Amino acid sequence: MRQNGQIIAITGASSGLGQHLAEQAASRGMRLALMARNKNKLYDLAEKIGGDILVHTGDVTSETDSKEFISAIVEKFGSLDHLITNAGQSMWANFDQIEHTDLFRKLMNVNYMGVVNCIHPAIDVLKKNYGQIVVISSIQSKFGVPAHSAYSASKHAVDGLIDSLRFELKNSGINFMTVYPHWIRGTRMRQNALGSNGEKIGDQKRSHNKSSVSAENCACYILDALPQRRESLYIPRKLKYLPALKLLFPPIFRWLIRSKINSQK
Ligand SMILES: NC(=O)c1ccc[n+]([C@@H]2O[C@H](COP(=O)([O-])OP(=O)(O)OC[C@H]3O[C@@H](n4cnc5c(N)ncnc54)[C@H](OP(=O)(O)O)[C@@H]3O)[C@@H](O)[C@H]2O)c1
Repeated sequence: MRQNGQIIAITGASSGLGQHLAEQAASRGMRLALMARNKNKLYDLAEKIGGDILVHTGDVTSETDSKEFISAIVEKFGSLDHLITNAGQSMWANFDQIEHTDLFRKLMNVNYMGVVNCIHPAIDVLKKNYGQIVVISSIQSKFGVPAHSAYSASKHAVDGLIDSLRFELKNSGINFMTVYPHWIRGTRMRQNALGSNGEKIGDQKRSHNKSSVSAENCACYILDALPQRRESLYIPRKLKYLPALKLLFPPIFRWLIRSKINSQK
């Protein structure tokens, strides 16, 4: 009930986790501002949810589109309580098989610059409201894994950015919560991932192992955590021990990661 009437902005709302976040936030009485590139999907979602939703078609890699999204929120609602930077893209290719390093630029643009572009114009409006920035990162921001070098690097960059902002904006009233999920099932992440030729790998049969979490549950954990104004949220919670395992027992850590990745192939 404490979330009723709060204004929440979600990037990458046209599919997967973002879509579930939007649907569940609306069912908790929150007022929505949604952004993604796919106009039809966004409008279909807004129609399905119903009510007075701000729909903004745009690309988070564009500073202009991102600024316009935040301006449209201020114009429509006058304030903002939570900004969830969720838009993202992955990959599936080993480094020595990647044909062009442009793949690195693409993923850095979406996963890192996409976060910078959206949170930079939102700082002033969030300050006024003791608002919150929720960054959907990945456990891969804590260590690299095979076939995901550019993705892991882009998520590491986001962690560095948010660490710095926590210092700089300590007295601003803004809370920064970073979300570290494991594999999430029921999203388009795999299909949208870039392959060795730099193009989306498209529909492929890839199995999720038992430790994956459904997008529905993941969205629920994130929304439940909003009132707690935490610094971090690991999904599932036991993931928070992995960085310590890497530090203390590197060979065991590498064996574990290799076996987890192989179980996904
Ligand atoms: N799935 C997993 O296993 C997993 C695990 C850990 C973390 N995550 C993170 O969870 C987040 C959501 O991913 P997902 O699994 O829900 O994947 P998804 O189903 O592929 O959704 C990605 C969303 O991001 C949007 N997007 C991509 N590029 C964009 C851009 N340049 N500008 C604006 N929107 C853009 C897409 O919409 P448009 O194409 O319409 O723009 C889509 O709505 C990502 O940040 C991802 O890194 C996922």
